[in-house]
Formats: sequence, structure tokens, C-alpha cells
Amino acid sequence: MIRSVVLGSGAATPRRSMSNAEFEKIVDTTDEWIVQRTGIHSRFIADADETTATLGTRAAEAALADAGLTPDEIDLIILATSTPDNTFPATAVDIQNRLGMHHGFAFDIQAVCTGFIYAITTADLYIRGGMAKRVLVIGAETFSRLLDWEDRTTCVLFGDGAGALVLGASDSTGTVGERGIISASLRSDGAHKDKLFVDGGPSTTGSIGHLRMQGREVFKHAVAMITDVITSAFERAGLGVDDIDWFVPHQANRRIIDASARKLGIPPEKVVITVDRHGNTSAASVPLALSVAIADGRIKKGDLVLLEAMGGGFTWGAVLLRW
Ligand code: ACO
Repeated sequence: MIRSVVLGSGAATPRRSMSNAEFEKIVDTTDEWIVQRTGIHSRFIADADETTATLGTRAAEAALADAGLTPDEIDLIILATSTPDNTFPATAVDIQNRLGMHHGFAFDIQAVCTGFIYAITTADLYIRGGMAKRVLVIGAETFSRLLDWEDRTTCVLFGDGAGALVLGASDSTGTVGERGIISASLRSDGAHKDKLFVDGGPSTTGSIGHLRMQGREVFKHAVAMITDVITSAFERAGLGVDDIDWFVPHQANRRIIDASARKLGIPPEKVVITVDRHGNTSAASVPLALSVAIADGRIKKGDLVLLEAMGGGFTWGAVLLRW
């Protein structure tokens, strides 16, 4: 059988990091409130010349360099984003052009914070279906452009950035000890739309709109949804919590991450946390967190890694892969 194996990874953040102290000057908030409720100390905010396409391209170039590949050797680009540069064409196609790639195909996936989990799962199906041998999977966002900078309940939570993986086809006998994506589980339920959405769009207001969130409502559902989908991914793989080396969750809120890990029985030393420095970067959050844990030597070849995300829609999902 064929399995999708990680060949390289990369990340990119905007130049400017913005501290909680800077928010104290903009809205009625404090560093103490933000840290205590979310675990966030700072986040990166894109300058005018930094967009989802430029950040995504930088992350893609880093992932290609890490894999020792050129764009000529990529068949497909999938970009997870809710903040495209234009309503159309897909920002993935723009990134394809910026990389100097004029063969193959590229498209965007929109599943808000779960976007990267949906994208990696889709890439895996293209690879296992034989339609692509090497896929560049990118999560890139400029959520700062969707924020209502006068709404203290949301503007302090989000940040900008991008992360990317190169996945490649590899022969496998299909055992859980071999490298590659082992199992995944995806969910969505539109009944929760009003709890987390953007109040604009081309077909309704004709404008971009602003992010609106009932934070407490999202929080209430998050832990149960995350743990359900992880349990389902474990069942599909015939594996359990004790088998994993690293848990790389969506970085929305430290309290949600801690509560999910506690409920699943994952010890804190196996949990990768970057929400302190990135904030919630939506579809970029999981690959950005991966890049930190790879760079500091925690995630190594052969490790069993559990990825998870939950976000607007609601959408939620988990992926188990042997690095
Ligand atoms: N600074 C100071 N006070 C604030 C701020 C702020 N930035 N924001 C809200 N408050 C106040 C509220 O007004 C409220 O005041 P009140 O009691 O006088 O009414 C008080 O703090 C408590 O507000 P809550 O909303 O109950 O605070 P909570 O403890 O729930 O924390 C938070 C809010 C951080 C948003 C939390 O609910 C959360 O993280 N929710 C989940 C968000 C999430 O996971 N999103 C993931 C998906 S994101 C995506 O898909 C794009």
C-alpha cells in the first residue's frame, strides 16, 4: 500500500510581534486578563505588505528547502485559509505562481481553524489515490484583517502566520510502526454557525466583515468535540493515548488545550504549546506549532504525533501520523 510521509516542514511569521501591553493602549484589557484566560503573551501581526500569499509562500519555500525538493517536483498545492488575498482566484494558485510552479494544480480549503487538518487529510487521499506523488500542504492566515479592533473579547486572541508540510508517497506494509499518516477523523456541524463566524461575505454584505465569537459557547463545546474526534482517530488506528510521543493541538486557548489533554490522559510534557507566542493563527496554528517542536528537537523521525483542531462551523478533526 501507499502511505503519505512527511518529507519536510517550514514556517513563516510576520516581522512584527505585538505584546499584550500594546493591547492595553487600544482596548479596555490587561496583560493579566489575557494571560490568565488564554495563555497568550504575544502574537504576530502582518504589516500592509505581508499577506496570506506572501506568508504562505515563505513557509512553502522553507518546507521545500527542508525536504530538499524544488517546486518542479510538487504535483499539488493545498492551502488551508479563511483569509485569502482575494475572494478569487484561490490563494493557493497565487502561491503556486510565486513559487514559479506552472504545472500541476492548486486549491484552497476553508475549514477555519480546522483547515490544516482537513488539508492534510485531503492531501493524503490524493496521494493514496495515486493522483499526486508529492503535495505541498500549507496553512496560512492573516486573521488580523478580520478582527474588530474595538472588540476586546476577540481582538486579543488572534494572530497571523503560516506553516507548511511536504507530503510524499511512500511504499508501506501498513503497520502502525511505519512512517506516514496512519488515521484521521473529520467532523463538522453547521448548527453552531452563529457561535463563531464572520459577519460579511461576497454573497451577503459584499464586504469582508468582522470576526464574531461567543467565546464561552465555543469553549463549552471545544473539549468534548476535540476528545471525541481524537478517540475516533485512535480507534481507527488501533492505537491509544499511551502510544503517542507528541500532542500538537490547535493553539486557541491554553485552558482548552490543558483541559483536553487532562481528559484524554496525555501528560503535560507531551503537549506542544505555542499559543503563548503565536496567539490563535487559525489554519496556521498546527503547522506553526509543529515547526517549533521540530526546530527545538522534540519531534523526531519515527515519533507518533497526534494533531487536532476545532474551529468555526463548527469544524473539528484529528490526524495521527508517524513522523
Ligand atoms: N480583557 C478584559 N476583560 C475581558 C476581555 C478582555 N480582552 N474580553 C472579555 N472580557 C470580560 C467580559 O466582558 C466578561 O466581563 P463581564 O463578566 O463583566 O461580562 C468577562 O471578561 C468574562 O468573559 P467570558 O467571555 O466569560 O470569559 P472567558 O473566561 O470565557 O474567556 C475566551 C473568554 C478567552 C474568549 C474564552 O471563552 C475562549 O477561549 N473561548 C474559546 C475560543 C476558541 O477556542 N476559539 C477557537 C476557535 S477559533 C476559530 O475557529 C477561528
